[in-house]
Amino acid sequence: MSNPIELRNVVKIYNLGGGVKINALRGIDLTIKKGESISIMGPSGCGKTTLLNMIGGLDHPTDGQVIVDGIDITNMREKKLAQIRREKIGFIFQFYNLVPMLSALENVQLPMIFAGKLSVVEIRDKAMELLRLVGLERRMHHRPTQMSGGEQQRVTIARALANEPSIILADEPTGNVDQETGWKILRLIQNLNKILEQTYVIITHDPKIAKTSEKIFYMLDGQIYEEPPRSTTAPSQNILAKEQRQLMLAELRWLKTSLVSLEKKKAKLNPESYAQIKMSYAQQLERLERMIKEDQGKGRSI
Ligand SMILES: Nc1ncnc2c1ncn2[C@@H]1O[C@H](COP(=O)(O)OP(=O)(O)OP(=O)(O)O)[C@@H](O)[C@H]1O
Ligand SMILES: [Mg+2]
Repeated sequence: MSNPIELRNVVKIYNLGGGVKINALRGIDLTIKKGESISIMGPSGCGKTTLLNMIGGLDHPTDGQVIVDGIDITNMREKKLAQIRREKIGFIFQFYNLVPMLSALENVQLPMIFAGKLSVVEIRDKAMELLRLVGLERRMHHRPTQMSGGEQQRVTIARALANEPSIILADEPTGNVDQETGWKILRLIQNLNKILEQTYVIITHDPKIAKTSEKIFYMLDGQIYEEPPRSTTAPSQNILAKEQRQLMLAELRWLKTSLVSLEKKKAKLNPESYAQIKMSYAQQLERLERMIKEDQGKGRSI
């Protein structure tokens, strides 16, 4: 049996003209098995949405291969692609627009009407059921413009689930909703993942959400990793040590300047204050010099 998602050395270069190119994906190899639920994390601009666009056949890669359910969609024509999308993939994208003229109910019905597998009554019942599942039973007849961002997001989710696609691609599915609704949506996703054996790819910035999936992938600068790459987690020891040294040097400079200006102000200060301030500076200087010495003792030079 073929895997629902397989990417082989997928490269995406955006050509902005005038010789400016952006390497959004730098050779991605990724296999996702049936029924798997995976999360993708990574900083803004690292290529997460671009990757999802490739999997969903919304854009073509510059190089490499995209295989969905055993079908090579890499260079597929739009008409055929649209059919694959409709039959196999559910999109939960923040900016994957709802039809503004249609109510929530009609928006959710639409993909089922296109699929042509259910009767009018069945389609209506199922759309209502889905809207209930995402907590929108009281907004069924509202149009997108009459709903909040989070409500629109939930309509998108209901619509994505309508044809029970084998693959669901979600780009920050809980980005626009409050925490409680977010968890509700997530539980729904998890249950559907188990019940329907759907394959989920979820982009999220929230580590708590990512942890609920079976696997977490991390992206950085157009590449994908199974472990968090160093620069997306804590700064390395070397960077910390360098920043610390810079701080110590800055403090040393500041203290020396303060000592000079203290001497200049000496005549205006009463002797007791002068002595106190000088003592405090001296103590700080001593502490700092000791720290710098210790740091040099570790084999670093300032
Ligand atoms: N249509 C486009 N034309 C040119 N450059 C693009 C295009 N789409 C994305 N990019 C660039 O490609 C890189 C990856 O963008 P992408 O949208 O995949 O990032 P992302 O990881 O989803 O970020 P975010 O977390 O902010 O949504 C970015 O540098 C972006 O500016
Ligand atoms: Mg994005």
